[in-house]
Amino acid sequence: MRGVTEPDLPELLRVDREVFPDDPYPYFVLRAHMEVHGDSILVLDDGQRLHGYALFLTVSDGCIGWILSLGVAPERRGAGLGRRLLLEVLRHLRERRVHEARTTVEPTNAAAITLYQSLGFSSEGTVRRDYLEPGQDRVIMKLVLG
Ligand SMILES: CC(C)(COP(=O)(O)OP(=O)(O)OC[C@H]1O[C@@H](n2cnc3c(N)ncnc32)[C@H](O)[C@@H]1OP(=O)(O)O)[C@@H](O)C(=O)NCCC(=O)NCCS
Repeated sequence: MRGVTEPDLPELLRVDREVFPDDPYPYFVLRAHMEVHGDSILVLDDGQRLHGYALFLTVSDGCIGWILSLGVAPERRGAGLGRRLLLEVLRHLRERRVHEARTTVEPTNAAAITLYQSLGFSSEGTVRRDYLEPGQDRVIMKLVLG
């Protein structure tokens, strides 16, 4: 696991499409994220290709950190990589003295919800209907970091 670098961009685009086949980021969005806050993108790299990544950022007052993407390539799932990525994101957020981590997940995404819950996140208890677009409901999950 390491921070992203500019030459990773094509691979990042590829792995994002593998992880989120229904809603991949367009190239220009990943480019913009890298330019604006590349220090908040972690990648899983075996030296040949990327197998997952996490993208997070802190909002302007620095109190809240949003995990915008966290994903592991399908063939590498179930081996602890998602947990390692998330723990590293939380370590970065704590280092930045962020008070609360937040993320959104699909209400039916049991793997993600269980992973986040296992590290202390809890959901608001309500499903935000049409949160991303009509028909794209999400649950907001939060963890107080102290
Ligand atoms: C969610 C995701 C990142 C988990 O990655 P992973 O590497 O498979 O997860 P890990 O192997 O580290 O598992 C960590 C914990 O997650 C939970 N988990 C993982 N897969 C699960 C599944 N299929 N069902 C239920 N819980 C699951 C378990 O609590 C697991 O802990 P355990 O192994 O001690 O039981 C991965 O499934 C993924 O990339 N999904 C698509 C993208 C996504 O939905 N991202 C989250 C929203 S942005």
